[in-house]
Amino acid sequence: MSEFEQRNQAMIRGMAADAALQAKARALFAAANQHEYSYHFRWLGRPIIQYPQDIVAMQELIWDVKPELIIETGIARGGSLIFSASILQLIGGAGLVVGVDIEIRPHNRQAIEAHPMAKRIKMIEASSIHENTAAQIRALATGRKPVMVFLDSNHTHEHVLRELELYAPLVTKGSYLVVLDTVIEDLPEDAFPNRPWTKTRNPKTAVREFLKRDSRFVVETEIENNLLLTVAPEGFLKCIGD
Ligand SMILES: C[S@@+](CC[C@H](N)C(=O)[O-])C[C@H]1O[C@@H](n2cnc3c(N)ncnc32)[C@H](O)[C@@H]1O
Repeated sequence: MSEFEQRNQAMIRGMAADAALQAKARALFAAANQHEYSYHFRWLGRPIIQYPQDIVAMQELIWDVKPELIIETGIARGGSLIFSASILQLIGGAGLVVGVDIEIRPHNRQAIEAHPMAKRIKMIEASSIHENTAAQIRALATGRKPVMVFLDSNHTHEHVLRELELYAPLVTKGSYLVVLDTVIEDLPEDAFPNRPWTKTRNPKTAVREFLKRDSRFVVETEIENNLLLTVAPEGFLKCIGD
């Protein structure tokens, strides 16, 4: 490891151990969330519902792993699909993104299909936890590797746990499974009014339950420690098993 990297790692460990900084970051996150901060950004023209920090982390993962297939649950307006496709385009090769959403609104579908990155994108309109959806995605994953997965659809404990059961087995050794919005557990109880997820039943509780039974994945804490502000604490999972 270079001196530059060693120094960075020491600084990142220092940030993680800095209780005052962590408290400020949590307070900033909660305050910005009240202004729907994650909705304010676009990637190559399409609205992306992510924090800029997480977008940078995903870029680093995609560039390092160079997946042939990225599976995304939760398309919304398409920004994250366009983002993943654009990094695959820069890498070159045959990389493809498959996105699943229970409802793809016609204007969003049209804009995604008209985008310069569309040739690397396949969309499925269905629930991510239907067996038929998983079967279609398993078929797409056949013969493609590495495979990476981003889960960002319905954030209830049960839904995320089922997505983990269906899609984690497709992630290849050395690649990543990112579970977004684990941060729900760390936010005030009233941060998500009118939503079925809660501080006690959310993507982070699903990840913890999943990790008890699946030894192929470990939480890569260095990523969240580095980001400081992330929607995915305990959600960056590295696949270490065959
Ligand atoms: C947070 S948004 C996705 C944001 C997108 N990944 C991005 O970064 O721009 C969540 C999406 O999940 C979709 N969704 C909700 N329930 C779903 C389900 N059962 N299966 C698939 N998608 C679902 C919603 O329709 C919504 O578009």
